[in-house]
Amino acid sequence: MLVTGAGGGMGREVALALAARGAHVIAHGRSEERVKPTLDAIARAGGKAEPAAFDLASLASTRAGAAELAARHKAIHGLVNNAGFWAGGREVTPEGFEKTWAINVLAPFALWQGLAEPLRAGSARVVNVASVQHEKGRIHWDDLGLAGGFGAQKAYRQSKLALVMLNAELARREKDLRANAVHPGVIATELFRNMPWIVGICIGAFCPSAEKGARTIWRLAAEAEFADTTGRYFHTYRPKPPHKEAQDAASCARLWDVVARQAMT
Ligand SMILES: NC(=O)c1ccc[n+]([C@@H]2O[C@H](COP(=O)([O-])OP(=O)(O)OC[C@H]3O[C@@H](n4cnc5c(N)ncnc54)[C@H](OP(=O)(O)O)[C@@H]3O)[C@@H](O)[C@H]2O)c1
Repeated sequence: MLVTGAGGGMGREVALALAARGAHVIAHGRSEERVKPTLDAIARAGGKAEPAAFDLASLASTRAGAAELAARHKAIHGLVNNAGFWAGGREVTPEGFEKTWAINVLAPFALWQGLAEPLRAGSARVVNVASVQHEKGRIHWDDLGLAGGFGAQKAYRQSKLALVMLNAELARREKDLRANAVHPGVIATELFRNMPWIVGICIGAFCPSAEKGARTIWRLAAEAEFADTTGRYFHTYRPKPPHKEAQDAASCARLWDVVARQAMT
């Protein structure tokens, strides 16, 4: 099972939990160094894991990483698109995409596409880590990169709404897979590093640990109860109707086509 962003935060805890349940984990990070402590912790606990290193802000790097994994593994049984990003300001990737959109939307899409064969062969469960923030999001169809007016929250909300919409479309298109999106709760991690320091202090003091947040994620990939569940959005432990636009099949299909064109860049 592949877990992205497994070097820290909830991704590390998802990787440890899946390995503890017998999965051979592919622990992804931006570098092998970044995931080494996760690999060491899995090995110490008697589990099996290997690293995968690529930069999710770059489509070229993500595609190359997916191709290498697809060559190495005939079947992948789980893909947890956990890695995520909250911007400090508007940044554009070398391929010309706003960075929040690149990491939170284009990278998961490129992984579904690049790993389609091993995922189908493994009848995989795909878990896309979204956010409750998607409920306040809007797809800026004419300006997905928000060049005409950027805000980190606006970009994050749009990206997570897009991920929930694409999750629904993935579930409709891929009958051999199960695909679900989840809001893990507001969890004390490094995600808030680009927010005002007071936000980080409050979240660190009052919010649940990464280990607790991770449970909302890994159970969708591992527990028997969810073996046939697909196309759903979970607010922590409960299925919940997502944002209206994510319930609109035509909108989800339209977004899929737009993102598919971008992902060919
Ligand atoms: N924490 C919350 O309250 C909360 C709430 C709702 C949803 N979420 C979602 O939960 C997921 C996990 O986040 P978290 O809270 O555990 O935050 P986190 O500690 O910041 O973890 C994010 C992970 O993504 C990786 N990542 C970011 N950009 C990357 C890139 N360009 N290439 C490769 N890896 C990259 C990070 O790697 P580095 O450490 O090397 O940067 C890190 O491992 C995210 O999708 C987030 O949006 C979190």
